[in-house]
Amino acid sequence: MNDLSALPDDFLWGAATAAYQIEGSADADGRAPSIWDTFAHTPGRVAGGDTGDTACDHYRRWPEDLGLMRRLGLGAYRFSIAWPRVVPLADGRVNPAGLDFYDRLVDALLAAGITPFPTLYHWDLPQAQQDRGGWPVRASAERFAEYTAVVAARLGDRVTHWATLNEPLCSAWIGHLDGAMAPGLTDLTAAVRASYHLHLAHGLAVQVLRESVRGAQIGIVNNLSTVEPASGSEADLAAAVRADGHINRWWLDPVLGRGYPADMLDAYGVELPVRDGDLELISAPLDWLGLNYYFRQIVADDPGAGPGPRFRQVPGPGPEHTAMPWEVHAPGLEELLLRLTDEYGVERIYVTENGSAYRDTVGPDGSVHDPERTAYLERHLAACARAVAKGAPLAGYFAWSLLDNFEWAYGYDKRFGLVHVDYATQQRTLKTSGRRYAELIAAHRAR
Ligand code: IFM
Repeated sequence: MNDLSALPDDFLWGAATAAYQIEGSADADGRAPSIWDTFAHTPGRVAGGDTGDTACDHYRRWPEDLGLMRRLGLGAYRFSIAWPRVVPLADGRVNPAGLDFYDRLVDALLAAGITPFPTLYHWDLPQAQQDRGGWPVRASAERFAEYTAVVAARLGDRVTHWATLNEPLCSAWIGHLDGAMAPGLTDLTAAVRASYHLHLAHGLAVQVLRESVRGAQIGIVNNLSTVEPASGSEADLAAAVRADGHINRWWLDPVLGRGYPADMLDAYGVELPVRDGDLELISAPLDWLGLNYYFRQIVADDPGAGPGPRFRQVPGPGPEHTAMPWEVHAPGLEELLLRLTDEYGVERIYVTENGSAYRDTVGPDGSVHDPERTAYLERHLAACARAVAKGAPLAGYFAWSLLDNFEWAYGYDKRFGLVHVDYATQQRTLKTSGRRYAELIAAHRAR
């Protein structure tokens, strides 16, 4: 049995999803394509040629999914709002039918006693905005602020917890530098400019939410990793500092008022398109910080790794790896929570995502037994509790993910859900890990 006793009484127990990964109904009710529709429909980009066209059909089956949240005993549900449903094209026209969907969902969540925890951007830039330059251009940040105002005007009377962006690192670095995900570019200048405009979009959205939502609790969600050098060589030690800059400090420092890290500005060699007042907007005070944690990064120097951070990741030495295949390393979560607390002075943290993919199958009796994911969940929750005992102001935990879903360029092959989804029939089955999560939640509430 895990010792979770250090978790506070009002700890928020949640699960997370994202629009393009679960909703499907890609062209329903006025939705227009996002960069992920385009990417997934480009041959060779996504494993198995999978797309989010249908995904978990959550857009139509959400009442059933809400039933699953109740079965788990969730206190909060983190979902994302699809910009391409709400303001589908670049003309700024609002699509009320897209907003209606989230309006219904929010009402039903509140009626079920589940706190809605929406994220305004989870990687689904409207393609029309991409066609006008995407995140590398400033106008995308300005359009994002307008879209935020539209959503806030509709939901702000009932929603208090808001995340601006999910994992801007993935949008900027994986989408514009590695090229492995949408929009699929490999251009350091575009990537750095995208990172800057994502931060600006965040800052502008914070301003809009502060002005329009009374009592708003606003945060941003970053995926962070602990970073260790592959060896004690000077080159690897320096690579680890660069990797920490690329993965962690670039995303934390400007938002938390420290400005952009000078060593990384040098490493990238790209001038940021800063205008007067931008840095103040980007670093406006937040109510909480979201941490998505999956694995640690062991890195080696790699001068040939293209421009920029010049490191490569080497496989983690631990004995267990998920199907991604990411190393299972729960102490990294404790370490990051304490770093945010002690080094950055963050006063409220949510683990906004944490979870694991395994090759789950439905047994002959119809059950899905996933002991590895159950152990992963228990160990990472124990890491949260240890961090809290040492002073981390952790206010909640969101398992990734409520449902198996479209895992971006990996397609449907990687299953992260507490609930198994049979994509042919759309049948949902609560996995053993989901049952265990429900037990832990119930035990914590009953103590
Ligand atoms: O599926 C993703 C999610 O969209 C963002 N965080 C990481 C998850 C697992 O890769």
